[in-house]
Amino acid sequence: MHVRLTLLIGLGLILGTPVMTAHAEGDAARGKPLSYTCQGCHGIANYKNAAPTYSVPKLGGQQVAYLVAALKEYASGDRAHPTMHAHAASNSDQDREDMAAFFAGKGPRKTAVVGSPPAAAAVCTACHGTDGQPVGPEYPNLAGQHADYLVQALRDYKSGKRKNAIMLGIVGALADKDMESIAQFYASQTGLCDTRQILENNGQCKK
Ligand code: HEC
Ligand code: HEC
Repeated sequence: MHVRLTLLIGLGLILGTPVMTAHAEGDAARGKPLSYTCQGCHGIANYKNAAPTYSVPKLGGQQVAYLVAALKEYASGDRAHPTMHAHAASNSDQDREDMAAFFAGKGPRKTAVVGSPPAAAAVCTACHGTDGQPVGPEYPNLAGQHADYLVQALRDYKSGKRKNAIMLGIVGALADKDMESIAQFYASQTGLCDTRQILENNGQCKK
């Protein structure tokens, strides 16, 4: 009995490594059922966080690397939010990769920029792009995100509730009225969607 168990563990260690590497990409098909529990908030259009009141962020079409990083931060408590901590802490690293792959889906469609960016947004475009669709996989997509959530996020960086060296340096010089106008601009672009659209529209945001 003991010998068999040891053998199995030994075999698992040998076989486990290549299998896990192959899996690190994130398996959207496995992420789909895991994410049903998230639909109760992220799949309802305009669902709100209570106290303070702001829209639950859209995750549909968001960047995989950013989604995984955010879930890890909630799990560790680096990004403080009691409900999201409860959800993220019960997930394994593989669960996070798989759910992120499912939510990212086929990604947002590229479209023309809607309106013209406020002058204060000039500093944001180097990472988040002119239309909020980021220039690299490590930056979050802001296109079509709820304006009130974007403002909340900027305030949280400013107050130190959200810890990120890059964004802290940026928001320090940003006036409240600029936060509002930049948020309105990015929110009005085509991009992210709620997760129900990803679920019902084969991995794609509608529109
Ligand atoms: C009870 C409502 C609720 C449920 C259920 C829920 N979330 Fe959230 N989620 C929120 C709220 C509210 C926020 C914004 C918190 C903040 O301001 O940091 C959030 C934020 C997030 C973010 C960060 C998005 C960003 O743009 O930074 C991710 C990723 C996320 N949730 C994933 C999930 C996943 C995966 C599940 C299911 C396992 C889930 N959530 C379940 C309410 C919920
Ligand atoms: C040098 C690159 C860089 C620049 C410039 C930059 N950002 Fe960011 N931004 C980031 C990174 C990296 C993150 C993710 C940080 C984290 O994990 O919390 C981020 C996160 C954010 C978020 C949170 C998104 C979410 O889903 O929660 C908002 C909102 C945001 N940035 C807005 C802005 C605005 C507005 C500007 C310009 C005033 C700006 N950023 C300039 C790199 C940048």
